[in-house]
Amino acid sequence: MLVNSKEMLMSAKRSGYSVPHFNINNLEWTKYILEECNTLEVPVILGVSEGACKYMGGFDVIYGMVCGLIKDLDIKIPVCLHLDHGSSFDVCKKAIDAGFTSVMIDASKYELEENIRITKEVVQYAHERSVCVEAEVGHIGGSEDGVASSIGFATLNDCLTLYNNTGIDSLAPALGSVHGFYKGEANLDFETMKEIRDNLEIPLVLHGGTGIPYEKIEKAIKCGICKININTELQATWSKAVKEFLKENDAIDPRKIIGSGEVALKEKVKEIVSVFGTKI
Ligand code: 13P
Repeated sequence: MLVNSKEMLMSAKRSGYSVPHFNINNLEWTKYILEECNTLEVPVILGVSEGACKYMGGFDVIYGMVCGLIKDLDIKIPVCLHLDHGSSFDVCKKAIDAGFTSVMIDASKYELEENIRITKEVVQYAHERSVCVEAEVGHIGGSEDGVASSIGFATLNDCLTLYNNTGIDSLAPALGSVHGFYKGEANLDFETMKEIRDNLEIPLVLHGGTGIPYEKIEKAIKCGICKININTELQATWSKAVKEFLKENDAIDPRKIIGSGEVALKEKVKEIVSVFGTKI
């Protein structure tokens, strides 16, 4: 069932677990993630970056693919289809018009005032259509799909100002996480995370979930994180399995080649979900 993320994330906030956000890249990954989460009976957020959207053909293709899989595979869990790091109102509008049930507007590269102006415009359009909006304050480090940023820590004040002026449904405060693998240990600001949780009624999101040791993930969930984004970890897991398969097999059938990463990817999804403590 395709739903927006409102109830999923509020329920995670109430019960103290995190909903997984897995980035998708193609039909097969989407199928594997849906099947595994359905077996585990946990809700899932399918994240689509602008780069992945271009790669797969566009928002309409992705919406059709996800709805088709839910129907044909008889997926019973709540599924949210989410635009990851939407860079403008126009991109968010396109995703919403295609049927996405949640969007992230990432105007964090602008000054707070401009971030608020753009985010507010997206919230208005989205809420009229029952779509949820996530926004970002500060800068999540590293690079995703070729978009690079250095770490800039969010402050409680900026988080409150953004929320009070926009009415967003969830917030990703940058608190030391990076997209991609970490150089050294992930250094998360748990104190500010707790402070934001205690002063903000909406659920908090942690980007850059790959490479954060599981005990720190568990601590982040205790400090108010209700959604964790994972992309690189699945890419690394899937590609390792495929490379091993190709070393041993002279396969040419793309179904066999892509499918050789299925078991490893599903096992990783299961492991991550158990760390997140996700429930329905
Ligand atoms: P990772 O690639 O580090 O898992 O981050 C994913 C992410 O935050 C997507 O928005």
